Amino acid sequence: MTSDLSGILAPGSREGTVLRERAAAAMEQAYAPYSGFRVGAALLGSDGSVAEGCNVENASYPAGICAERAAVAAAVARGVRDFAAIVICTEADSPTPPCGICRQVLMEFAPQLEVLSVTRDGAEEQWSMSDLLPKAFTPTSLGRR
Ligand code: THU
Repeated sequence: MTSDLSGILAPGSREGTVLRERAAAAMEQAYAPYSGFRVGAALLGSDGSVAEGCNVENASYPAGICAERAAVAAAVARGVRDFAAIVICTEADSPTPPCGICRQVLMEFAPQLEVLSVTRDGAEEQWSMSDLLPKAFTPTSLGRR
């Protein structure tokens, strides 16, 4: 399955190619001995930088972290807080969207984010953040910015 890909992640775009490669490489580093479900993510900063993340599980299951949030943490630690796109890579049969907690974390920094999920077999699906998390609770909801 290949859905309509648009914007930064459109077929043949340099950023899209780099993000797909980096997400696949990050997936290889995943630590997922409990689920066996490896996930990699590559997050494009508005400054052109790319931060990777992979899922890191734990014997105390809730202590694990998803690839998408690991990528956000890596970027923020380098001073990058504005994001344009994220590519998520899994070995699932069809592209998987980010989990609910990751949607909330991505929305905090990047309500305009382009989200692309790819499988190793080349299936792809793209969403906007408003597709994934309509009526979101955001920093604006707190009245702070
Ligand atoms: N996982 C992610 O890394 N990202 C998601 O969006 C969905 C789930 C991880 C968490 C856990 O390590 C494994 O996939 C199975 O849920």
